[in-house]
Amino acid sequence: GKITFTMIKPDAVKNGHIGAILADINQAGFKILAMKYTKLSAEKAGEFYEVHKERPFYGELVDFMSSGPIVAAVLEKENAVEDFRKLIGATNPAEAEEGTIRAKFATSIGENAVHGADSDDNAEREASFHFAQTEIYR
Ligand code: GTP
Ligand code: MG
Repeated sequence: GKITFTMIKPDAVKNGHIGAILADINQAGFKILAMKYTKLSAEKAGEFYEVHKERPFYGELVDFMSSGPIVAAVLEKENAVEDFRKLIGATNPAEAEEGTIRAKFATSIGENAVHGADSDDNAEREASFHFAQTEIYR
């Protein structure tokens, strides 16, 4: 797959890490096809994370993701989904490999700095959730 979808989450925005995270993303060879500074309503965050609605942390996740502004972006690279998940590291920053974005910038398993789509289909769905096709410069 050639594209993935990411969000810089409210913790990383609040902590002033937007620039450093985008620098790591560029350094790793991803091209930005679309980008937006925005804030999710609780309703929108709930919809985005609908797949997790039966998980015990769903309420916390929705509250957190709607707690402040985020950066949403569509990224292009060969093998984008898998390579981006390598770049961000494990969900729990305590388990994230040294040098990964979550190892450097996340504070906890909930407040973990970035989102990365987990499949090609989800990357397309998540990109379309945040952007019109005319806003994605392929
Ligand atoms: P995303 O790229 O954000 O989708 O993370 P992921 O794919 O590494 O993890 P997953 O899809 O399993 O979980 C989605 C998000 O839910 C995580 O990134 C965390 O923000 C949050 N999350 C996962 N597990 C926990 C948990 O045990 N507690 C809390 N509070 N949040 C969690
Ligand atoms: Mg996930």
